Amino acid sequence: KTPAATHVHTLLASYPDFPQPGILFQDLNPVFANAAAFRSIIDELSDQHFGQFDAVAGIEARGFLLAAAVGYAANVPVLAVRKGGKLPGTVLAEEYDLEYGSARLELEIGQLEPGTRVLVVDDVLATGGTIAATARLIERAGYRLSGVGVVLELTGLEGRSRLGDSAVHAIISI
Ligand code: PRP
Ligand code: MG
Repeated sequence: KTPAATHVHTLLASYPDFPQPGILFQDLNPVFANAAAFRSIIDELSDQHFGQFDAVAGIEARGFLLAAAVGYAANVPVLAVRKGGKLPGTVLAEEYDLEYGSARLELEIGQLEPGTRVLVVDDVLATGGTIAATARLIERAGYRLSGVGVVLELTGLEGRSRLGDSAVHAIISI
């Protein structure tokens, strides 16, 4: 077990029936709220050993917390993948189904050189819809998906199988 995995196992809080009946909500805020734990997850997600990257993309909202820190730690540019309707200019959009509901993610074009290798980070991999939509945005924008990093993978939802050949690194899988 990595130091980050130990922290996450210790601090993760589960809330049954939130935000809807039948959903077991996994709250990572206690991990973000612990400085040693947060540093350990950023160190692990920034490790180029898991796949070389030249930039990092974070998915609104909780992925932003991770991408900003990974970008700083790895000294690479940060892309913000936003929920629909928030970005100006020329944007690419992808619809996706969520564990609860459906939504749209968007990315501005032309921020980085074509072919840039982008690591996508988010807090949780559940059904994989969010990250799959983000992967499509990264590729449509002309970049290359170098890998995916998440703090928590919920294996029962088989999200990894929706991400094709992408290298997925999860700090913990439950
Ligand atoms: C949650 C979580 C992941 C996504 C995982 O985000 O932060 O981004 O769901 O689900 P999936 O693998 O089934 O797509 P949510 O859309 O609830 O919003 P938030 O990050 O803005 O809180
Ligand atoms: Mg999210």
